[in-house]
Amino acid sequence: MERFRAELRAFVDGIYEGEKKVLVFGEGDRRAPVMLIGEAPGEQETLQGRPFVGKAGKNLDEFLEIAGLDRKALYVTNTVKFRPTKISAAGRTVNRPPTQEEIRLFLPWLRREIGLVSPMCVVTLGNVPLKALAGRKAVIGDAHGTFLDLDGAALYPMYHPASLIYNPSLKDVYRADILRLGEWLRKRL
Ligand code: URA
Repeated sequence: MERFRAELRAFVDGIYEGEKKVLVFGEGDRRAPVMLIGEAPGEQETLQGRPFVGKAGKNLDEFLEIAGLDRKALYVTNTVKFRPTKISAAGRTVNRPPTQEEIRLFLPWLRREIGLVSPMCVVTLGNVPLKALAGRKAVIGDAHGTFLDLDGAALYPMYHPASLIYNPSLKDVYRADILRLGEWLRKRL
């Protein structure tokens, strides 16, 4: 994993010469049975150097607890490892979704990271990691809460925890999906 990180750092420095992108690497148990994959770090994640520690992360932690899943026993990472930003009309630096090009650059690294952890189940959070791994036709609205195949491992799509902030009516669906994941895992451990 250390080598992976060093090589990824060098790759990003080569592509974004002179920009000194802050990278937020995955964290957690490197032999975890479940790997959670988000979109890209936001402001808090970049400041703290850890994935899912901002508002979306608080939602995620809350629901993991409901399902009896211990975050420290999982591995949590993102598709794109730096914060995609733009300047808002008010002149502030704000988040933006990662571009297809950014996703394409990071995808081989994400696949390598999955190989290193080798989880029983890869959980994609939102459309970005789902489409990156399962193809552009996959959509979260249809695929969430179902177990798909990813090269022999299970792929379990869930909504992004940030979507609960904008759409609280998703909370029941989110709860049901994460409870199903917890049950699935307990049967296999
Ligand atoms: N959203 C993500 O997709 N990843 C993070 O790490 C934080 C917020």
